[in-house]
Amino acid sequence: MEKIKVCLIGCGRAGMIHARSYAGNVKRAELIALCDPFEENLRLAREEIEVPCIYTDYREALKNSEIDAVVVVTPTKFHHDIVIAAAQAGKHVFCEKPMAESPRECDEMIEACRANGVKLQVGFMRRFDKNFRRGKELIDSGIIGQVTSLRSNTHGPSEPKEWMFDVRSSYGPIGEVNSHDFDTLRWYAGSEVKSLYAAGRNFRSPEMAEKYPEYYDTCQTILEFENGIIGTISGAQYVKYGYDSRAEILGTDGIIKVGTQHSDAVELSVSEQKNISDSVVSWKNLFADAYVAEANAFVDCILCGEEPAVTGHDGKMALLLVNAGLKSILEKRPVQISEMEE
Ligand SMILES: NC(=O)c1ccc[n+]([C@@H]2O[C@H](COP(=O)([O-])OP(=O)(O)OC[C@H]3O[C@@H](n4cnc5c(N)ncnc54)[C@H](O)[C@@H]3O)[C@@H](O)[C@H]2O)c1
Repeated sequence: MEKIKVCLIGCGRAGMIHARSYAGNVKRAELIALCDPFEENLRLAREEIEVPCIYTDYREALKNSEIDAVVVVTPTKFHHDIVIAAAQAGKHVFCEKPMAESPRECDEMIEACRANGVKLQVGFMRRFDKNFRRGKELIDSGIIGQVTSLRSNTHGPSEPKEWMFDVRSSYGPIGEVNSHDFDTLRWYAGSEVKSLYAAGRNFRSPEMAEKYPEYYDTCQTILEFENGIIGTISGAQYVKYGYDSRAEILGTDGIIKVGTQHSDAVELSVSEQKNISDSVVSWKNLFADAYVAEANAFVDCILCGEEPAVTGHDGKMALLLVNAGLKSILEKRPVQISEMEE
């Protein structure tokens, strides 16, 4: 069986999720190299996953002609340079989201992959989650008639780190948690967004308000799609109750509800009229199978010569919408997406 030989670039929190997928769950791939400039991270990664090659510099890894594809999971600011160098070295590329720091960088990455004839897939793993996929299949089946409106929410439990309070660089929750929702709604709507309005406010960290007056931990976004569908997105950080990612699709003949806030299908009801069930703890648990499916899809598209299910264009558009959302929050006005492309 032909196998794609993979190098992981960036062995941190998300990188190791990909490493575990490629090391055990992707039959048509073999993880042969790990790369990370921080030797301690590299050591820990190699302790867990045995590979023949390790690198502290991605440029050295790219010289290895055995490597067919790279999985780029470094901090976002490095994605652009690494992806372009990988494409120029003839390696297929999987790049985590956010794809880059600006739509212009995304264009350059897309062009480099096109010019060098390599695949580029971006890490929106919800598209490979069985529940989110079922939602899309049901929309396409026409069972709820014409889609009228879409709702998607992501609420994350983690306490914000200091760098997240500066929303001009971190984007705040609209970038940190909602970039996946933007991608999901574009996918479900089958259309680009025409305009959006977003509002945000800091409720949970009032002690940071003086130093970071623009910080918000909660936001709501209303979107109008080019095909007339209306969407809303709810975003929040530091919600404490768990990781909560769900979507709803309202049609002329019915409704589809995707996902649940609970970690399993067991719910306990007790005598004080209380229902008790465990919350999902983290995106790592909720989307564990989706990460494996995403890796399999990447390898399959290389082997079969097909277009990836999540393209560089999808990565660019999600970034553009996050930028538009932050602009709307800061300027307190609706934003036309055409303004962002100028
Ligand atoms: N799909 C998702 O839901 C999801 C979830 C988490 C993170 N991410 C994305 O994955 C990326 C990494 O996030 P993380 O949370 O794993 O960060 P992290 O800080 O835990 O890990 C980043 C790793 O990259 C390494 N690194 C830094 N510069 C490098 C370079 N030049 N070459 C190779 N390695 C380098 C670091 O040493 C570190 O080990 C980010 O773009 C993030 O937004 C996506």
